[in-house]
Amino acid sequence: QICILVGIPMDSGKRRQGCRMGPDALRIAGLAETLQELGHTVEDRGTVTPDPAALADTPPLYALAETVGWTQAITRAAQDAAIAGMPIFLGGDHALSLGTLAGLAAHAKQQNRPLFVLWLDAHADFHTPNTTQSGNLHGTPVAYAAGRDGFNDFPPFPATIPGERIAMIGLRSVDPEEKAALDGTGIHLTDMRALDERGLRTPLAAFLTRVEQANGLLHVSFDTDFLDPDIAPAVGTTVPGGATLREAHLAMEMLCDSGLVTSLDLVELNPFLDHAGKTAQLLVDLTASLMGRRIFDRPTRGPK
Ligand code: ARG
Ligand code: MN
Ligand code: MN
Ligand code: MN
Repeated sequence: QICILVGIPMDSGKRRQGCRMGPDALRIAGLAETLQELGHTVEDRGTVTPDPAALADTPPLYALAETVGWTQAITRAAQDAAIAGMPIFLGGDHALSLGTLAGLAAHAKQQNRPLFVLWLDAHADFHTPNTTQSGNLHGTPVAYAAGRDGFNDFPPFPATIPGERIAMIGLRSVDPEEKAALDGTGIHLTDMRALDERGLRTPLAAFLTRVEQANGLLHVSFDTDFLDPDIAPAVGTTVPGGATLREAHLAMEMLCDSGLVTSLDLVELNPFLDHAGKTAQLLVDLTASLMGRRIFDRPTRGPK
């Protein structure tokens, strides 16, 4: 694989600052070296900078203008990187997915292939700028991609992603308005109770089968708060009861075995909250599992 690292030091998606240090923390934790040891070619494209803000902020939304500027710049960077190889977007808070999803959707449209999205997150991030209670736009990217109304200040989303092509795993903090809006969208929802009862393998394998049958592109958006805060403390929006270390590695190894993943977001890492780099290191190790690191090889290949 040709891995294209794209640093996105975006911090405008919420009030608590620190995610802008995320790209360098992931670099210092050895992301490029780890990928190279696994046999991949790595191109680090450095750092995206936001377009100049061209509109006024509208409180109570936090940093709307800057977030729109980032979205424009990231959309172009994502589309360019997707042509060159497998983009790995180093966040930065989850608002950066407003741009990565838009760029990847434009790329998929150009390739004439459907884009699928796996959202690994404690949250659904399904608010619109009109429904968010916090005003934090990192809670909105899936709604933008799924075509919800209310994003008039943003560029029109290039190719709306139908709910059937989106899966969320790890849910344990969903606001009432999000819950109502998710109803009937066809988005595949796996909350923590479902993971407890049935495990991660079944819902993930079912989704991967759908991606394969449609010859889809698959974007994985990995929010650090998918993980339990005990193992991943460096997040501003920790929610107890998250995925374990083993569940997370299983997800990454299954994704690797499927051969379907075409791009990855690593988001919401806030190194200011980390314990001696352990969360950054964990994200690098999980990326290694996604990109081929194994204890022993398994005979099975493909999503089944
Ligand atoms: N739903 C909450 C909100 O709108 C939390 C969103 C958290 N999102 C995230 N990417 N960490 O503020
Ligand atoms: Mn989250
Ligand atoms: Mn998120
Ligand atoms: Mn702590």
